[in-house]
Amino acid sequence: MNYKRRRLLLAGASLAAAGSGCIPMAVHAQAALLRKKIPSSGEEIPIIGLGTARRYESAGGALRDTLERFGALGATVIDTAPVYGQAEAVVGDLLEQLALRPRLFLATKVSTSGREAGVQQIEQSFRRLRTGKIDLIAVHNLRDTQTQLQTLRELEKQRRIRYVGITTSSDRQYAEFEATMRREALDFIQVDYALDNRGAAERILPLAAERGMAVMINLPFGRGRLFDAVRGKPLPAWAGDFDCRSWPQFFLKYIVSHPAVTCAVPGMARPQYVEDNLGAARGRLPDAAMRLRMERFIDGI
Ligand SMILES: NC(=O)c1ccc[n+]([C@@H]2O[C@H](COP(=O)([O-])OP(=O)(O)OC[C@H]3O[C@@H](n4cnc5c(N)ncnc54)[C@H](OP(=O)(O)O)[C@@H]3O)[C@@H](O)[C@H]2O)c1
Repeated sequence: MNYKRRRLLLAGASLAAAGSGCIPMAVHAQAALLRKKIPSSGEEIPIIGLGTARRYESAGGALRDTLERFGALGATVIDTAPVYGQAEAVVGDLLEQLALRPRLFLATKVSTSGREAGVQQIEQSFRRLRTGKIDLIAVHNLRDTQTQLQTLRELEKQRRIRYVGITTSSDRQYAEFEATMRREALDFIQVDYALDNRGAAERILPLAAERGMAVMINLPFGRGRLFDAVRGKPLPAWAGDFDCRSWPQFFLKYIVSHPAVTCAVPGMARPQYVEDNLGAARGRLPDAAMRLRMERFIDGI
């Protein structure tokens, strides 16, 4: 479909959706995945990626099928870390087997103290991920931030990495996290945010927008906590107003519809999770009024 025709269809969808509590983003279920821009470069990435904590600590299970499905559906962003057991090596091996590396956006972290230890850990990530270029490396949980950022900037200059960032998943670190965001020029931040865990929206997400930083969201389901909250409950009928067909899509669409959020990385180790969760990157997204309704809904159960 050419660009003009797509714009016309989107405009039509926009008119049809006016006043219905949703932002029209695409016109049918098999549309390409929605993407958002990384502010520092303008590069667009799909709004749903994949996290590898816990379930990728050792090879096995359905991991190969999961990554195969992920690539086949056009998703690109994979988040890992050197401290997730064997996750980097498992991902590196599988991507090589599946010949997927060139199509993916690989994010990992540096998670140690001291310059030499950081350099060694990063070199190990290149080896384990079986790649000469890592798209994003972030300082994990603000561990020795100044030292590790210096190393990351050198690697960026050498064009071995493309983006630099910081991560946290604990509100106890938010004050230091904000101070680092104000002090440093960062391409990405990664922070915890979920429908029942909205603290990051108070200051961190607005600050990221102000500072032109891309935002990757970790723990989008609160490690599964949100599923326990809605167990046995039917999806509200109004979820259809933003093309939502499951609870995982409900939780993910809430996150990625925040204007400052670039993508979310739900943990997924099963192909059916990939199928379901990538549905959150298609169709309409909730608008501001609908997002409030979603918050009231979850706060009420
Ligand atoms: N500080 C940091 O940098 C930091 C901290 C935490 C996480 N992270 C990143 O964020 C990623 C996400 O966090 P997380 O994996 O711990 O938690 P999460 O994404 O909030 O929850 C993942 C769990 O939700 C369940 N799930 C996923 N999709 C589902 C679906 N469609 N239907 C039903 N259940 C589904 C799975 O549980 P089961 O596997 O039990 O079925 C999965 O393990 C991590 O993998 C990691 O990459 C970064």
